[in-house]
Amino acid sequence: MLPKIDVQGLSVQFMAPQQGEPITALADLNLQVGAGEFVAVVGPSGGGKTTLLRVIAGLERAGQGAAQVHRADPKRPATAMVFQDAGLFPWMSVLENIAYGMRMQGIRGKQRYELALFWLGRMGLTRFADAFPHQLSGGMRQRVGLARAFAHNPEVLLMDEPFAALDAQTRLELHAALLELWDGADMTVLFVTHSIEEALTLADRAVVLSARPGRVIAEFRVAFPRPRDPVALRTDYTFGQQYAAIWDVLRGEVQPASEGALST
Ligand SMILES: Nc1ncnc2c1ncn2[C@@H]1O[C@H](COP(=O)(O)OP(=O)(O)O)[C@@H](O)[C@H]1O
Ligand SMILES: [Mg+2]
Repeated sequence: MLPKIDVQGLSVQFMAPQQGEPITALADLNLQVGAGEFVAVVGPSGGGKTTLLRVIAGLERAGQGAAQVHRADPKRPATAMVFQDAGLFPWMSVLENIAYGMRMQGIRGKQRYELALFWLGRMGLTRFADAFPHQLSGGMRQRVGLARAFAHNPEVLLMDEPFAALDAQTRLELHAALLELWDGADMTVLFVTHSIEEALTLADRAVVLSARPGRVIAEFRVAFPRPRDPVALRTDYTFGQQYAAIWDVLRGEVQPASEGALST
């Protein structure tokens, strides 16, 4: 069976405006993600993680190689992106924000709002349907972002450090919320993070990228059974072992660049 996401020999260069030398963001990167799989990409800052997602989404061109999404259902969008900033329109209510994407897909008015309310309900935010984004906490805004992404129903969901700006408790709640939505959704997820804990909590597989130019340097299967409890996982012996094993690979990539500790 074809993988849902197929990245082969992908290299991407950027022209640096001042230096003249091109910057190689990704070099000969290979990654296959199966349909319905949840893969986390862990890597140091500046290693090309965002670039990888942008190429898969078709927003950036491959220099060499290719990144393909093999679609199965022409009625579903191929990809959707979720960013650190939920990216809600400040002048639209929460419900309108969720419904807006579906309008772009051509879903009719009544059905659009019913679907938006359904996904908002699944995020526990029905009471805030008429609120505006500035009236919500960061965690609630990101919940709305998730509701919008799942209402959009792409075959592939590309998530770029979506929870990196949230406090630790809120992040745990969002992990639980995301897992709950994803469990029944038949959706392939590629989730970029610099947090090993986040990768282990969410993913079926964690792929480690090198420092720039980014390529895959290691891969870990994350075998915790589902449904998962993000809090209970923390006390699992294997969790600590896998954390250490991934950090062992990542350490060498992170420290030359920043000499700082990896925040989780
Ligand atoms: N549009 C662009 N023009 C020039 N350089 C870019 C552009 N986008 C990314 N880069 C550079 O490519 C490298 C990888 O960036 P990025 O994909 O954002 O890394 P990450 O998401 O892992 O932090 C960085 O050095 C960044 O400065
Ligand atoms: Mg990035």
